[in-house]
Amino acid sequence: MPVAFCVLIFLTDWVSSQKVCSYQDVLDYLNLTTDSSVFKLTRPVLDHTHPTMVELDIILYAILAVIEKTQTFIPFVWATMMWNNEYISWDPAQFCGITQISVPRDMLWKPDLFIYEMIQKDESPQNPYMYISYDGVVTSEEDMKVVSTCKMDVHKFPFDTQRCNISIGSAIHCVDEIRLLPFSNSSRATQFSREVMKTQGEWEFLQLSVASYNFTYDNKQWEHLIYTFTMKRRPLLHVINFLLPILFFLTLDLASYFISEHRGEKLGFKVTVLLAISVLLLILNDILPSMSNKTPVIATYCIVIFALMLLSLLETILVTYLMEIDFGSHDKLELKDNWEEKQEKVKIDDCNTEEKRRTCCSCICKVSDGERQHEVLPLGDEVNNTIQSRESPVLLLILEELKELQKTLDLHLGSRKEGGRSIQWATRINRGFFIFYVTTVLLFLFLIFNEWNS
Ligand SMILES: *[C@@H]1O[C@H](CO)[C@@H](O)[C@H](O)[C@H]1NC(C)=O
Ligand SMILES: *[C@@H]1O[C@H](CO)[C@@H](O)[C@H](O)[C@H]1NC(C)=O
Repeated sequence: MPVAFCVLIFLTDWVSSQKVCSYQDVLDYLNLTTDSSVFKLTRPVLDHTHPTMVELDIILYAILAVIEKTQTFIPFVWATMMWNNEYISWDPAQFCGITQISVPRDMLWKPDLFIYEMIQKDESPQNPYMYISYDGVVTSEEDMKVVSTCKMDVHKFPFDTQRCNISIGSAIHCVDEIRLLPFSNSSRATQFSREVMKTQGEWEFLQLSVASYNFTYDNKQWEHLIYTFTMKRRPLLHVINFLLPILFFLTLDLASYFISEHRGEKLGFKVTVLLAISVLLLILNDILPSMSNKTPVIATYCIVIFALMLLSLLETILVTYLMEIDFGSHDKLELKDNWEEKQEKVKIDDCNTEEKRRTCCSCICKVSDGERQHEVLPLGDEVNNTIQSRESPVLLLILEELKELQKTLDLHLGSRKEGGRSIQWATRINRGFFIFYVTTVLLFLFLIFNEWNS
């Protein structure tokens, strides 16, 4: 019994000692060391006409920034590269089923892929290891903050959708040496990205699509993979921050129609509103790039509203001026002209009365002469005559004076109304302009929102 037990222990010990393997055993078997030139120096193919197939997968982790002013797009991506190293192969059965080993990155040859749009070196820490598997597939994974340039169209800002490309290709190896293949197609990449997406910030990620493209230069072809990120801006912040305030100020400007024109209160109000708008325009200047082939709709929006408000300010100035003219002439009239005119009128009237008296006198004389012949005197027209015929001529004079006074008074009232003519004009201009203003604003807003919506 003890002998059999001992044999059993020995047997299990022997078997288990046989099954212990380390990664180093595999590396030793492969002759892979830190300075083995076979693995590092050249493209790892046994036949040089054989291209290395590189499979690439890019997934969007986060949209860190989209800067319109500098036309920069900064996504955070997760890139996976896979290629075949024909020097590497082992039988997992010989090494306790080891199928994968991680090795430092600089021990092996890597495809020289780079991103064409990248304008700044990535400084984020790199993953120091790569995986090699028994069939020779090398897998390299990297997280990258890609600071890339992207031509943005801000025509519809802030209701815009941007498309930014990241083109990846080999720097020197042409299509006969390195072939690039996308590991996952567009829909899979989009779905993956949606699942792992951490932050999107202001942007809503819509789609990630991938396309292959052959770049020809000097009779040689380079294969590129172009990843296109499509994202839509969330406009809420800009609407609250910018579009609505301008609209509010415009409404205030429209409402100022109901403020009285008196003493330039309205003028002050309108100038204040215009200043407020120009402060908002400064914000816009911060956001938008100075060069853009198509005028951004928002710029049109601002400029037209600004111009309309300016026009309304000018109109107010005109109306205030007209009113001032009117009030000014009134005061003068009442101070100077009133008296002079009265005097002159009285003089003229005196003459008139003199003449009239004479004619009347003659009339009276005639009448008094033929009083007996005409028993019935005309009552309506010739009351004066009857009065005059009975009372002293002084009364007649007073009556005439009163009449003339009434006439001048009427004339003055008339002139007041006539002076009110410019006030009337002002009111008319005011009303006409208000109607024009409201119509233009409504039409313009309709057109602008239509443009944004299209
Ligand atoms: C590793 O090197 C040894 C001796 O230099 C050689 O016999 C062996 O075949 C090499 N192994 C491989 C996988 O090339
Ligand atoms: C690029 O060139 C390779 C090799 O000639 C070819 O197989 C591939 O289909 C080409 N790709 C495109 C997008 O034309």
